[in-house]
Amino acid sequence: MISQNTIQQILGRLDIVDVIGGFVKLKKRGTNYLGLCPFHNEKTPSFTVSPSKEIYKCFGCGRSGNTISFLMEHEKYSYVESLRWLANKYGIDIEETFTSDEDRQQLLAADSLYIINSFAQQFFSKMLFESEEGKDIGLSYLKERGFREEIIRKFQLGYSPEQRDAFTKEALEKQFNRDVLLKTGLVVLRNEHLTDNYRERIIFPVHNHSGKVLGFGARVLKKNDKAPKYINTPENEIYVKSKILYGSHFARQAIDKADECLLVEGYTDVISLHQAGIENVVASGGTSLTQDQLRLIKKYTNNLTIIYDGDSAGVKAALRGLEMALEEGLNVKLVLIPDNEDPDSYVNNVGAFAFKEFIQKNKRDFILFQLDVALKNAGKDSSKKSEVVNQIAETISKINKAEDFTRQQDYIKQCAEILKIDESGLHTLVNKFIRNRVSTLEKKLPFEEAKAHEENARRDAAADYDDSTFILLFKDELQEREVARVLLEHGTKKWNEFQLIAEYIISEIPEEGLLDNQDIMKLINAYKELLLKDKSNITKNYFIYHPDTALSSLTVALLNFPYEESERWRNEFSQATGYQDKLFEQDYESFIKTITKEKENTLTQFLKTEEDKTNEEIESALGYLKLRKVKRMLIENQADLEKPHSNQEYEMLQKTHLHLKEMEKTLTQKMGTVIIR
Ligand code: UTP
Ligand code: MN
Repeated sequence: MISQNTIQQILGRLDIVDVIGGFVKLKKRGTNYLGLCPFHNEKTPSFTVSPSKEIYKCFGCGRSGNTISFLMEHEKYSYVESLRWLANKYGIDIEETFTSDEDRQQLLAADSLYIINSFAQQFFSKMLFESEEGKDIGLSYLKERGFREEIIRKFQLGYSPEQRDAFTKEALEKQFNRDVLLKTGLVVLRNEHLTDNYRERIIFPVHNHSGKVLGFGARVLKKNDKAPKYINTPENEIYVKSKILYGSHFARQAIDKADECLLVEGYTDVISLHQAGIENVVASGGTSLTQDQLRLIKKYTNNLTIIYDGDSAGVKAALRGLEMALEEGLNVKLVLIPDNEDPDSYVNNVGAFAFKEFIQKNKRDFILFQLDVALKNAGKDSSKKSEVVNQIAETISKINKAEDFTRQQDYIKQCAEILKIDESGLHTLVNKFIRNRVSTLEKKLPFEEAKAHEENARRDAAADYDDSTFILLFKDELQEREVARVLLEHGTKKWNEFQLIAEYIISEIPEEGLLDNQDIMKLINAYKELLLKDKSNITKNYFIYHPDTALSSLTVALLNFPYEESERWRNEFSQATGYQDKLFEQDYESFIKTITKEKENTLTQFLKTEEDKTNEEIESALGYLKLRKVKRMLIENQADLEKPHSNQEYEMLQKTHLHLKEMEKTLTQKMGTVIIR
């Protein structure tokens, strides 16, 4: 486990704009930052990052969270991995408190895999460039294929000698652990001896997007029917094939610049294209694209161009990934390389210029390509043809992201033409697929669902009272949430000479009876505990990063954006007065003179000092919470009164009634002095 001390250090250092800005282009807008949401496809930015609250929120898809949950969601890191990533980014040393040997082993395993891989990469490179065998066999092979030395060095290619334990011997000498060595796949057990797994092969190191070596592909030199062409690293803690795009580390910037990612099949395709100056290229490793790989691409660009050789099985595999790519919002094009060539041989034959030209001229739309293939397969069979229509309608329906509306219309038009069918008919069919999916999608939204349940339950509960206070009861939740919000928002500020605001609020909330929402009660109890334990150490954002994700996500949900606040106020205000913002800014003095007394009050309240407003917010939140409670007790008491009672009981209930009425009056009067929000 990462020590609490280290976690605090990381949380103290991190800058949400800096972290999220590494993945999403952000522009400053007022006190916040705005960008295109990385979690859903959009053309106008609604993804907002608040540096002061250290949270993000997308007003389009509703996703929100803190820096760590961003990394967890966007990078698919675990909580601990996110902390490690941040520690690494900010150069913070991680202090570990080991809870179990297992944890320790796990951590050490990943680290030692990286260390061994890095060592192996250097070893193989040295063999390629410095040993006689490497130069004679490996280097000459690569040069014959047209790879120049600078590109060989850039991609850190290597050579593994014929000798059966060349690497193993060096690795054992370095005292690397046997089990870890076996895990890297560099070494295997033969007749109870550790032996090199790659012998007399060209070594292609596979890097992650930041340049660390995850594993290797080792290619045979001689044609050999018995041996596989490539031996790849087996899956382990760091080599997860479905998440790897070969070349991503070298292509990142070029993809960003070109706003396009070229996808090829093999290692040599990537390297040859780089050598030809085409650097926005990655390889899938010959299998069909996975969702994780598509997401990696999507981080850099929306435009994916697949370049495969015409007969390759890869095209079929890629077609299978098409729908996924559409759902990710990628714009997919396809280029087929002719005459049994692959991108590597083709660029070597025709040169960089002609290659680029060929790509530009032969880019085909992937959806139309799919239609072509399907139509050819269907031939004259009419039932097969109607299957094709259905299939294409479903495919088109997958690009139904609001912003891609025109793209979808275009496809409907073009496909109807190709299929020689009625455009409006295809339209209807596409819409049917969209509707079906939307209804299943809605079922999938757990938060919305939970909210709906909660509201239904409240409605039922309120119906029991059958009273005009229904509305008030229905809004219970709001008052509780508001109290929790002001606690989180202002808790660490001073209430008075002796107390923090948090202490005041908590002292006003009894352990039982006032709050119904158990999550909010849990948050308040956690805050209370913290106050008792370590008052000086509470920071405003403590709960945003609470390790209990139930608490941290509640916190994020409760805190809203200053942007929303001021925006809301602006709207309400300009509506109320009928004056334009511009006028307000231009001629403030004369504006003040022209407004009515009532409106002046509104304005004065808005212009009150920060501190005044804070205190009013807190009194208002607590006041409404208590008022609600009193009103509810009144209703319950009333219901009791209506049942038959002894005289004595009746008197008690009457007294309670009067007492509650008195409290209601006091509270209402007090509420009159604070702004109603
Ligand atoms: P290719 O057979 O096209 O290889 O496989 P290549 O990389 O273009 O190599 P050359 O040009 O023939 O020398 C494409 C990719 O499929 C994976 C590798 O990632 C390879 O780069 N592959 C292929 C394997 O993993 N294992 C194999 O046996 C073959
Ligand atoms: Mn090839």
